Amino acid sequence: MTKSINCFYLDDATIEFEPGETIMQAAHRADHYIPHLCYHPRLSQHGSCRLCMVEINGSLVAACSYPAQNGQRVFSDNSEINSKRLQLVQMLFAEGNHYCPSCEVSGNCQLQALAYDLGMTHYNLEPLYPKREQDASHPQLFIDQDRCIYCELCSRASQQLDNKDCFGIGGRGSTTHLILKSDSGSAVDTALAETDKAAHICPVGCILPRTGNYQDAVGKRLYDEKTIHELGNHRADESRGKQHD
Ligand code: FES
Repeated sequence: MTKSINCFYLDDATIEFEPGETIMQAAHRADHYIPHLCYHPRLSQHGSCRLCMVEINGSLVAACSYPAQNGQRVFSDNSEINSKRLQLVQMLFAEGNHYCPSCEVSGNCQLQALAYDLGMTHYNLEPLYPKREQDASHPQLFIDQDRCIYCELCSRASQQLDNKDCFGIGGRGSTTHLILKSDSGSAVDTALAETDKAAHICPVGCILPRTGNYQDAVGKRLYDEKTIHELGNHRADESRGKQHD
């Protein structure tokens, strides 16, 4: 008896999937890129960034949580959806303090790379310039909340990959902030180690190793020669933590 193959159609591609997989999981395995910031193949779903929105039967759904179904037609890479993604990226820039030219991860940053890929040249939103904390207490890591996008990759990686619980999110709306889970609230008093997956999974420049920075010249970094779209899922998700995978 031949085994039946489940597949759906993502733009012009045919994607096979295993029962129970989401659209994102199947697309990721097939190395078909769907923009995302809070999804990581080794972590539980978060569903917060909405960059992974795709269209199915005229509705926009999150590819990272929507189950793949046989024969489904899924649209992802078209100008209408990408312009909505661009708006979301512009909001993220306006909500935080993203000074790309002086950021150590410029050229290695998924938010910046997505902005370039979606054609962002500016944003018309009023920047909020929120007051955010920096934490330089840890001997090997520097935490700069100016750049945090609250994707919670760090807290999920700490729990699910490092078997620790070093990060959380507190506050609401404009007071949302990253919590360092220790009695003092300082990074140095958490169990966080430089070798943790959580220390290297940040898609932006919020959690930075204090040594080994600026090794790659600007112009020679991950997204300097190829867009995040061209590099595809695996490079994007593994790039920040490659030395610890
Ligand atoms: Fe799906 Fe963030 S990747 S909501």
